Amino acid sequence: MDLKIAVLAGDGIGPEISAVGVDVVSAVCARFGHNVEYAYAPVGADAIDKTGNPFPEDTYRTCLWADAVLFSAVGDPRYDNDPDAKVRPEQGLLAMRKKLGLYANIRPIETFDCLIHMSPLRKEIVEGADFVCVRELTGGMYFGEKLEGDERAYDTNLYTRTEVERILHTAYAYARRRRHHLTVVDKANVLASSRLWRKVARELAAEYPDVETDFMYVDNAAMRMIQDPRFFDVMVTENTFGDILTDEGSVITGSMGLLPSASTGEKTPVFEPIHGSWPQAKGQNIANPLAQILSVAMLFEHFDLLEEAATVRRAVKASLDANIRTPDIQVAGAPAYGTREVGSWITAYISTMH
Ligand code: IPM
Ligand code: MG
Repeated sequence: MDLKIAVLAGDGIGPEISAVGVDVVSAVCARFGHNVEYAYAPVGADAIDKTGNPFPEDTYRTCLWADAVLFSAVGDPRYDNDPDAKVRPEQGLLAMRKKLGLYANIRPIETFDCLIHMSPLRKEIVEGADFVCVRELTGGMYFGEKLEGDERAYDTNLYTRTEVERILHTAYAYARRRRHHLTVVDKANVLASSRLWRKVARELAAEYPDVETDFMYVDNAAMRMIQDPRFFDVMVTENTFGDILTDEGSVITGSMGLLPSASTGEKTPVFEPIHGSWPQAKGQNIANPLAQILSVAMLFEHFDLLEEAATVRRAVKASLDANIRTPDIQVAGAPAYGTREVGSWITAYISTMH
């Protein structure tokens, strides 16, 4: 197939892991006979430096041209400690989500047996945990009406029935492909917006009788995730709760540097690691590229190129088994490999494996 990919590397370690992601896409396409074309575009602090805008119009057009966006990370300490900054790198990410209509953010939380010892949780609790968080991504407090005064400030947690219905359908589709269990996470004991979620979910549950639907308050879900993460199969929740719970999810498996995500909706889908831009590590060739590489696997899965995706996953597993690992996950006593070295080992594996 012909594949057009917009590459948005962004800030911090973004460019380094992005380069590895592109190499992996190229290796897979060469192996399977696909034609791939790339277009590079700035986003985040990089785009502010170049154009004054964290998601410039040209970058948006490049995304529309592409079949998929390979995104890395945005964020820069120059903005973090300045509450008065008029423009921030993160606004680029939010603008991209909104303009591309990416209402469904899929964040799989998976454990890798060989990394379980790095989890802050006991092995017997976390072993085998494998769930997907379906996070609503273009509504709620992130985008509702705001007031930012010196004496009063608010954010509005607005959701419409249509927004809730479409994300629930996405979540049910995932549940049907997995273990047929959906947990709707909300705060319906306090929030009106959550009561709408619950009402709509109860109605839709009747359309999916083969899926077991349950409801959980978000505070309870945060607790359950560390007490009994294997309880979950698919969870679906609003934008803000999903932001918080997926950070929690990303560390319980001991492997934050390994978690990819997909954002889909109306226009071009985006594939990105869930970790951030880690500015302290910028340019040091120490960032773990595996989450970016696994985002490439999700990209191929999105286009139903399942063998291609499986090849990427197998190569990642092989690199872990061979201890070709960056310092964050290297086993004691073994030499640590750089971002580029892990990347080239994996691309070589993809090109030559039988
Ligand atoms: C995420 C990030 C973003 C969010 C930030 C960078 C705006 O934390 O993708 O989870 O809050 O959605
Ligand atoms: Mg977050």
